Amino acid sequence: MNIAIIGCGYVGYAVAQHWQNKMSLMVTATTTTPERIPELQAISQKVIVVRGNNTEGLKSLLKDQDVVLLSIGRKRNVSYKETYLKTAETLIPVLQQNSTLKQLIYLSSFSVYGYQNDNLVDEETQPNPISDNSKVLRQTEELFLSASNEKLKVCIFRLGGIYGAGRRELVKIVSRYIAGKTLPGNGQQATNWIHIDDIVGGIEFARQNRLQGVYNLVDDANLTQRQLIEEVCKKHNLPPVTWDSSQSRKRDCNAKVTNQKIKDAGYKFLHPNMTF
Ligand SMILES: NC(=O)c1ccc[n+]([C@@H]2O[C@H](COP(=O)([O-])OP(=O)(O)OC[C@H]3O[C@@H](n4cnc5c(N)ncnc54)[C@H](OP(=O)(O)O)[C@@H]3O)[C@@H](O)[C@H]2O)c1
Repeated sequence: MNIAIIGCGYVGYAVAQHWQNKMSLMVTATTTTPERIPELQAISQKVIVVRGNNTEGLKSLLKDQDVVLLSIGRKRNVSYKETYLKTAETLIPVLQQNSTLKQLIYLSSFSVYGYQNDNLVDEETQPNPISDNSKVLRQTEELFLSASNEKLKVCIFRLGGIYGAGRRELVKIVSRYIAGKTLPGNGQQATNWIHIDDIVGGIEFARQNRLQGVYNLVDDANLTQRQLIEEVCKKHNLPPVTWDSSQSRKRDCNAKVTNQKIKDAGYKFLHPNMTF
């Protein structure tokens, strides 16, 4: 099977490694940064420098491919629109002309659920994005879903916050901006996270089972913000936070996301509970 991975950052790189080493698939990786070619050659058969707004580049990348994984992340000083919508608008006509592709797997975010009053949401819940960026992610999902047909399955994963080996953002944010502070609210809002191993596992599951449609990819934990911050502070010997419930905190996304749909499809999580 020939697979193209558009965007080989933290996630795309890990998936490429898995597909090339463990599954012996023919992986073509992309980057927008020529200096990254040697690094990506180690985890793929071929590396192509292409941006999501380049029709001819995408056409040539997708020639003779069976599956394409779109795992792009916004770069500094580039808008969400330019990154996600522009790529979808460029890629969709290319997909429609391509005769070999059978599946597109696109990585979106749980943030598209937006304001949900801390209720449990599943893939049937109407998204209610509040921030401009989440609105762009939702529009991108809609464009890709409308591009699916008999021949081309479109699988969209709504990922939780990403954590795992080599990804220290959570600890950095807590240690720099949160530990030892008094935070507004009571910390009871839900958080949604996913380990990199389960992103790789979920994507491989989608490929093997030719999944179509939207799937949440978050773990079982649904820790509250308070539980999460307390665990991080404890594990990393950081000063604890206090909560001031007399102050309210408005959030653009307050959804407690369930992963039942992908479990019902047969996927078994490697890290159902968040490990710190
Ligand atoms: N971060 C989170 O917690 C989180 C949560 C939910 C969903 N997601 C989604 O998960 C996916 C992967 O995230 P990640 O952490 O792996 O991102 P990442 O490490 O920032 O990597 C993103 C990759 O996208 C490439 N890229 C950026 N703009 C591009 C464009 N216009 N055209 C083509 N390629 C482009 C970059 O290429 P270069 O090689 O040139 O740098 C980079 O390799 C993204 O779709 C993101 O929206 C992330």
